[in-house]
Amino acid sequence: MSTLPFDLERTLQSLTLEEKAALTSGHTTWYTEAVERLGIPAIMLTDGPHGVRKQIPSAKALDLDNSVPATCFPTAATLGSTWDVGLLARVGEALGREARANEVSVLLGPGVNIKRTPLCGRNFEYFSEDPALSGDLAAALINGMQSQGIGASLKHFAANNQESDRMRVSVDVDERTLREIYFPAFERAVTRAHPWTVMCSYNKINDVFSSQNDRLLTEVLRGEWGHDGLVVSDWGAAHDRAAAVAGGLDLAMPGTKPSRDDEVADAVRDGQLPEAVLNEAVRRVLHLVLRSQEALASPGEYDAAAHHELAREAAAAGAVLLKNDPVDGAPVLPLDRAHAVEVAVIGEFARTPRYQGAGSSQIVPTQLDDALSALREQVGRELPFAAGFTVPGGPFGDDDALLTEAVALARTAGTVVLFLGLPPVDESEGFDRPHLDLPENQVAALEAIAAVNPRVAVVLSNGSVVALPWADCVPAVLESWLGGQAGGAAVADLLLGVRSPSGRLAETIPHRLEDTPAFGNFPGEYGQVRYGEGVLVGYRWYDTRQIDVAFPFGHGLSYSTFDYDDVAATVRGDGADVVVDVTVTVQNTGPVAAAEVVQVYVGDPEATVLRPARELKAFAKVGLAPGESQALAFTLGARDLSFWHPVLRRWVVEGGRFVVSVGASSRDLRGSIELEVVGEDLRPPLTRWSTLSEWMDHPVGGPVLADALERVTGSRTLPEMDFSMAGMIAQMPMRFISLSGFTGLGQEDLDAMVDAAES
Ligand code: BGC
Repeated sequence: MSTLPFDLERTLQSLTLEEKAALTSGHTTWYTEAVERLGIPAIMLTDGPHGVRKQIPSAKALDLDNSVPATCFPTAATLGSTWDVGLLARVGEALGREARANEVSVLLGPGVNIKRTPLCGRNFEYFSEDPALSGDLAAALINGMQSQGIGASLKHFAANNQESDRMRVSVDVDERTLREIYFPAFERAVTRAHPWTVMCSYNKINDVFSSQNDRLLTEVLRGEWGHDGLVVSDWGAAHDRAAAVAGGLDLAMPGTKPSRDDEVADAVRDGQLPEAVLNEAVRRVLHLVLRSQEALASPGEYDAAAHHELAREAAAAGAVLLKNDPVDGAPVLPLDRAHAVEVAVIGEFARTPRYQGAGSSQIVPTQLDDALSALREQVGRELPFAAGFTVPGGPFGDDDALLTEAVALARTAGTVVLFLGLPPVDESEGFDRPHLDLPENQVAALEAIAAVNPRVAVVLSNGSVVALPWADCVPAVLESWLGGQAGGAAVADLLLGVRSPSGRLAETIPHRLEDTPAFGNFPGEYGQVRYGEGVLVGYRWYDTRQIDVAFPFGHGLSYSTFDYDDVAATVRGDGADVVVDVTVTVQNTGPVAAAEVVQVYVGDPEATVLRPARELKAFAKVGLAPGESQALAFTLGARDLSFWHPVLRRWVVEGGRFVVSVGASSRDLRGSIELEVVGEDLRPPLTRWSTLSEWMDHPVGGPVLADALERVTGSRTLPEMDFSMAGMIAQMPMRFISLSGFTGLGQEDLDAMVDAAES
């Protein structure tokens, strides 16, 4: 342990008001403010999340191409599809080591925003449409990063689910949806990994900027989840500096003019901002500076070759084999090595890989693999190649000529591996996609090639899902997302069967944009986006509404097969103490070593609120040798059965029937168990505004009502009436009934009933 440059509490007392205000904003784009007279050094925070983007000193703020080389790990789209917490921890460790070696104290990531729509230009930087999966992966990554003595920045808190108008838009969202969909990934990561920093989002939530949202940053993040680190603004997101400090924002980045810091000092002087609140923010900044010192004192080195290998392993683990139909009796993939000599490689992306997304996460890689070279190297032969189509921003060419050449090659090939994907200009931080389609020239190439060769395996490179209306034309599709600098070699490993695909969809692939949950409520208008689909996001939407999809959440094939046996689920305890034990035995029944992702879903079909048909609550990735089996056990707690009660404003377990399912995707359930759970008493107290049927159905209210009727009418039941009248009255508040005289009960009778029910 190095000696610390200053003592926190003593230094806090020695700082002037102006110095304190200055410490709550950065000094430059990537550095915090130093106070030399007190020995407070500056520290560096930089992007993030898939590698270290440390700009060279001469680079301007928005210069994304001039940074020191660093390993470009697969993007979160790929990492999310690994469903592998152990792997994410190792990637996190490597990221931490590289940050440390570069004297970076905080690496700005991971991003855990939910993929609300496949159109979000930044989906490549986010893990999943599911909060449990996103949260568990983020927690593993953060724990890995921070094990190296550097900090993570969990971002962008919260509800930053689109790039359109991201700096101003107000997300119009109800509390239950925030709690069940948009918060839990942050909550899981905060409670399980204690990130050194959390970055607030640019957008507003229900008209309040996240950067000055006291409920978000102070009540929920710190108060409820116990975040003990710092909150930093997204770059430029702190508008009203004093309101931001008051709301719980500690550090506004990047550096600003000193006059902006005066806003904070003036607010303290004017009595608008209590100095104690400013002191808290400064304390957190100083704490961050102090905890960064150990790593800065011994930056160390990293093994670039080993990190490249890890990036390759992760890219392979996150590629999803969507389909692999047999042609002539055998699946097209893996390529039969004996016949690999007859393989033709087509598609510009094989030669010019798309391996990362655009924007602040852009890395200058330490090396870069392309699939064409990797395949040639592994096969030991010059496999023939044709570009097939042009890609905007790529090598110049004529689409017609390229297609003619590619079709001629495809006609003579044993198998075609066709590399398609989104051009880099189609997806980026800062804007969203207008549609889900691959470019027309690529689809034309696919159709022409499939017409002359039945053995076509498509490899896709894109940061978020594309529609696959053409998938029926080809027997095999491998979705590799944006696989980082070793993605090309990883794809070659999978195509040749060196590894078996083990990625699973962390994002549903719909048939059409019109089927997607946010359609009609995206990207909003006039500065407002309404999350009208509520909690039905991703597979929660498709499964609940029974909408046919191209490939469901959790889906992914391997070169082996798996059996699920002995699926069991039992309940212990009740209400807030309920525990559900789930067990299953999985066996690799196929010919090769492979990994399966076992998914546990919970459904609550009898709830008093609309709940998704099923929700992922636990998962495990298990590697199995041929014939090997493994027994797995999962423990679900009350929270896994709960919904956020909109009136009680807390998590509740409602009693009744639950369905626990174990499966290989949200639509490939291998076993479902029905359970009877004893829940909490959630009946609201009876009032004058409770309806007749609420009184009748209530265990206390029912007899009280009958007693009152008997007193007034001589009968314990209501007078005979027409069924429509009975139905109408049943839904009326008692207040109306007592005023109308329908039942003979008057105002005073009702007052007495309320008193009796309360006692
Ligand atoms: C992005 C953040 C990023 C920051 C610094 C912002 O525009 O939204 O994710 O960390 O810039 O580059």
